Amino acid sequence: MTRTVTSVVDGQPVPGDRTVASLNPADLDDAVGEVSLAPGRIFTAAAVVARNAQRAWADVPAPVRGRAIAHIGRVVEENAESLARLVTREIGKPYAEALGEVREIVDTCDFFLGEGRRLYGQTVPSEMPDKQLFTFRNPVGTVAVITAGNFPVAVPSWYIVPALLTGNTIVWKPAEYSAVVSNAFHDLFVKGGGLPDGVFNLVHADGADTYAGLQESLELGYIDKVGFTGSSEVGREIGALTGRHLQTACLELGGKNPLVVTPSADLDLAVEGALFSGFGTAGQRCTSLGTVIVHESLHDEFLRRFTAAVDAAAVGDPTQDVLMGPLLDAKFAERYEKFLGWVQPQHTVHGRTGRITSGNPRDGFVGDPAKGLYYHPVVVDGVRPGDELFDQETFGPIVGVTSYSTLDEAIDLANAPGYGLSSSIYTTNPADAFAYRRGISAGMVSINNSTSGAEAHLPFGGNGKSGNGSRQSGMWVLDQFTRWQSVNWDYSGRLQKAQMDVADLDADLGFRLDDQP
Ligand code: UN1
Repeated sequence: MTRTVTSVVDGQPVPGDRTVASLNPADLDDAVGEVSLAPGRIFTAAAVVARNAQRAWADVPAPVRGRAIAHIGRVVEENAESLARLVTREIGKPYAEALGEVREIVDTCDFFLGEGRRLYGQTVPSEMPDKQLFTFRNPVGTVAVITAGNFPVAVPSWYIVPALLTGNTIVWKPAEYSAVVSNAFHDLFVKGGGLPDGVFNLVHADGADTYAGLQESLELGYIDKVGFTGSSEVGREIGALTGRHLQTACLELGGKNPLVVTPSADLDLAVEGALFSGFGTAGQRCTSLGTVIVHESLHDEFLRRFTAAVDAAAVGDPTQDVLMGPLLDAKFAERYEKFLGWVQPQHTVHGRTGRITSGNPRDGFVGDPAKGLYYHPVVVDGVRPGDELFDQETFGPIVGVTSYSTLDEAIDLANAPGYGLSSSIYTTNPADAFAYRRGISAGMVSINNSTSGAEAHLPFGGNGKSGNGSRQSGMWVLDQFTRWQSVNWDYSGRLQKAQMDVADLDADLGFRLDDQP
């Protein structure tokens, strides 16, 4: 029997008007579930419900909301393995990584459960007597969260945990191809947290209906904040739409993340980092490696070791111990084939490309490639600015390689595509590490580490085409889901006018020290 998942609004399942299947990308005969997709008006209805539930949720004392977050973290931890298994089954993420992704929810809950007892405001001195100044963090209100399916549970938790903790209510639109996981996540949060109906609503819809529902909800004033993780292209649309309503969305978009290998680098460490950055999650992280920028003196040796490592990597069944499983969904496989078409005659491609089949086999493949959306990992040498392969994000298992002579040139190459999410440098020279940190446009910099794998309590976010400067995670995300309110309280019993009724001390500004002995 196939399970059907629906939207959940105000605690009630809400069927949509059509269904699509969510398939296991590692075994396309395995239908993980049917997803009932809602029309735009259901999104708007969910926004109304969230709006109506918001005041009561904000009135729950913050330490009590923090307890709800604590309970969610524990329940997720207790269910970690079954949630991770479902992530592997629905999007093909290797099990060890899926478990790490679930861990990221727990880490996020652990960070924010104490924030319920902090959520500090300030007391600030006034320029006048018998007057006090304060700041308070207020919830923004009703938050729409729209997320991709490559991190179907960790990334949603980065929005949903702090948004709930700070007293906001939510309408969440997850990716259609990770819908079954989304309902499991929603159940864990609602049941584990004991969340009242209407506080956290889930809507399954396609992109066009979501946009229509979001537009209507913004026009009617039901949504106060949008959090979006996805492509730069859609992020631009969301940014424009929210901008028209004088809102700034929290945008976490694509990346063309560089990894620079300097002459002083530990080459084997750099190869290991490039392998995981490029081909972990089959290259489908927003933080995945785009281009290796290697010093010209090391280029040939790096390429030799890197391609050998790629050849030796385990690819296949994501329930096994592999580096790389299938692509997330047919939509991503199709798009990835387009990226492969960007290879030009001036490029040198290492090994086989395209779908892994019996006619286009991969040595040592784990399992049966015919079952799923498996692709060869590809290394393309000789990419340069102006090449689509160098300039554009290529979500999937493909890594470009180019070389440089001076560090300034490496930094220019690293910044050239105009994204700015993550980046990495391999060096044992502190001067190079800090020159790179200063020069790189990315929001996140790794030194002797992978471009991917950010910890859950440091600011996460990008610049340029990777976002609008918003940051998630840690204390920094509090500024996304709260607004500062300034309060002044005058108990002098008279009107004291700021800047005018202010006392001053008699200073002698002409005073000089006497230099004579
Ligand atoms: C993403 O791909 O959208 O830093 C997020 C990382 C992960 C999150 C990636 N912790 O690679």
